[in-house]
Amino acid sequence: MFFLQLVLLVVLLPDGDSEDDFQDPNSFRVIMISSLYNHSWTQNLASAWLGELQTIGWNSKTGALIFLWPWSKGNFSKEEMMEQEKALHTFSIKFPLIFKDHFSEWQLEYPLQLQMAKVCGLQFGEPSVGYLQIAYQGSDLVSFQNMSWSPSPKGGIQAQKVCKLFNQYHMINLRLHRHLSDTCPRFLLGLLDAGKADLQRQVRPEAWLSTGPSPGPGHLLLVCHVSGFYPKPVWVMWMRGEQEQQGTQRGDILPHADGTWYLQVSLDVKSREAAGLSCWVRHSSLGGQDIVLYWEKPHSVGLVFLAVIVPLVLLAGLALWLWKRW
Ligand SMILES: *[C@@H]1O[C@H](CO)[C@@H](O)[C@H](O)[C@H]1NC(C)=O
Ligand SMILES: *[C@@H]1O[C@H](CO)[C@@H](O)[C@H](O)[C@H]1NC(C)=O
Ligand SMILES: *[C@@H]1O[C@H](CO)[C@@H](O)[C@H](O)[C@H]1NC(C)=O
Repeated sequence: MFFLQLVLLVVLLPDGDSEDDFQDPNSFRVIMISSLYNHSWTQNLASAWLGELQTIGWNSKTGALIFLWPWSKGNFSKEEMMEQEKALHTFSIKFPLIFKDHFSEWQLEYPLQLQMAKVCGLQFGEPSVGYLQIAYQGSDLVSFQNMSWSPSPKGGIQAQKVCKLFNQYHMINLRLHRHLSDTCPRFLLGLLDAGKADLQRQVRPEAWLSTGPSPGPGHLLLVCHVSGFYPKPVWVMWMRGEQEQQGTQRGDILPHADGTWYLQVSLDVKSREAAGLSCWVRHSSLGGQDIVLYWEKPHSVGLVFLAVIVPLVLLAGLALWLWKRW
């Protein structure tokens, strides 16, 4: 159901660029970063993510998992979760060790940065490809899929050597394969179900307008802020009447701490052409009713002045006149 909703959203949203920057919400990934500063100093960081939502943190000192949502354990039992915790802890110790042991053979260098991502996903509710990827110094090195390790095209001789070694660990690879094709998708299914109240929630954005730093003499940068929405896909456009403004610049969609999103969309216009422009916001939470904010016409400030200040001055004048007459 959740998946269907997203497919619909992507189809319904007229602007395509929102799809590119969000991770498939039906994938579960565990990531770990090992930083080896020298032979005796290693630091590990690990976390687990459902799409772009972090569900589990990790205490690198104790090796304990930190569950960030009440449903972060999905439908796994305490024992099953402890097994996963133990596996991650063991991995965090052994993984950097392998690289240390082959330091000169693989021609590695300190400081050494290793990144690992273990991913499984669902497609149309069925388990799809699961894989594990390892990067060295920020570039893909090797990946594991379907029982075997393969070098990244850009990994060079280093990647080939790593693959050759990893492909000899038959038992480990068998276990990894089972994890990726069974345990992980099973956990993911349970997780999507346990967390559906939060995952399928709809939170309405707030929107407001401002000006940004002046792009140049006689120009204005109009900024439309859209804040606090969930889920992530959103369409925001500067319009004149029904006409989309081609110069609309879309910022990155940024996360709020509560899991909702923020987006800023700007337009550089000649000051005298700003009147009559509006910012349109379309989001699944709005039930088809776009938010439309009009850029106030410059002379409306003058109107406010006339409507409020002038009577005040007249009143004050009248009061003064009366007071003098008395
Ligand atoms: C390893 O690096 C850490 C952190 O930079 C440093 O404190 C430590 O002295 C280094 N150890 C050696 C043996 O170089
Ligand atoms: C995975 O490996 C098996 C056996 O080697 C093969 O039959 C299957 O087609 C492979 N699947 C994919 C998706 O590569
Ligand atoms: C958890 O939910 C999934 C999907 O509904 C199911 O396949 C699995 O058997 C359940 N239990 C465990 C312990 O994985």
